[in-house]
Amino acid sequence: MPIIILAIESSCDDTSASVISDGKILSNLVAGQKVHEAFGGVVPELASRAHQANILPVVDLAIKNAGISLSGLSAIAFTQSPGLIGSLMVGCSFAKSLAQSLNIPIIGVHHMHAHVLAHFIDDPKPSFPFLCLTVSGGHTQIVLMRDYFDFEIIGKTLDDAAGEAFDKAAKILNLPYPGGPLIDKYSVGGNPHKYEFAKPDISDLNYSFSGLKTSFLYFVREQVKDNPNFVNENLSDICASMQQSIIYHLMKKLVKASNLTGIKQIALAGGVSANSALRKAVESEGQKQAWQTFVPAFEYCTDNAAMIAIAAHYKYLKSDFESMEVSPSAR
Ligand code: KG4
Ligand code: ZN
Repeated sequence: MPIIILAIESSCDDTSASVISDGKILSNLVAGQKVHEAFGGVVPELASRAHQANILPVVDLAIKNAGISLSGLSAIAFTQSPGLIGSLMVGCSFAKSLAQSLNIPIIGVHHMHAHVLAHFIDDPKPSFPFLCLTVSGGHTQIVLMRDYFDFEIIGKTLDDAAGEAFDKAAKILNLPYPGGPLIDKYSVGGNPHKYEFAKPDISDLNYSFSGLKTSFLYFVREQVKDNPNFVNENLSDICASMQQSIIYHLMKKLVKASNLTGIKQIALAGGVSANSALRKAVESEGQKQAWQTFVPAFEYCTDNAAMIAIAAHYKYLKSDFESMEVSPSAR
């Protein structure tokens, strides 16, 4: 009998469902929520309501696209933490009630762990140990992976996450949420060295992005005082320079982590790993440092249920199930 798992991801503002059979993804659907764009960020109450509306059709289509029936499922997985509590609750209660009706186990997955394990969906897969720079809207971490479930966070942000730095910079430029992909887009053709912002000076392998954000805010304010059209006239150069500052900081600590640990298998994960300049930076630094690099396919960078499914597959192999009393946790 193959191990077939339905996985649900609902930690923030995307409702996603995926079906995996013996470690192979059969379907992976994501329904985004446009409703937040007008608010410049995710509105938790609107997110959980949209999850409630989306979850049934998304799961239904994931099952259909996988070409399986509910009775063929071995387990149901869901994102247990971290995330918006109301959003997590929708996925968790849906998983529990469906699993109960089918009399199959449930598997709770940590969202950030799943971002890293997404590297085990397709070939080439890293072997252990490897380092994973995990960069999303809520987290920025360097994770030393010793095994699927044996890992250590050797560096992390002390304030804002890298995705937050992209999104906040975009907001300062009056771009809609989420601004990360727009900064990436407008940076194309821009001069990444035209403007300089405060360089974070943080010890160890940790990160900090709040000073950079403040320096960016003051810079834009000052320029706009002199020329109200400054942003429009220089959008590409501003975006490219800010993007370059974020990537410089990310790469500096990643190189340091590799030198300190001697590990040369380097992976990139999380929503910000969709950034084209960061992907290039990892590849080109990889050539200099003789790294073997692992950059995920675009569909597995930003939030998706396939990464929850692959993490659940390895948990299933260990019979690591949750009790039906399980509840999600925001942190
Ligand atoms: O992993 P993810 O989808 O959700 C969280 O777990 O937070 O990451 C979302 C973050 C957002 O901050 C978004 O702006 C950023 O990833 N992001 C990007 C790009 N695509 C998504 N940032 C820069 N460039 C991109 N192309
Ligand atoms: Zn994420």
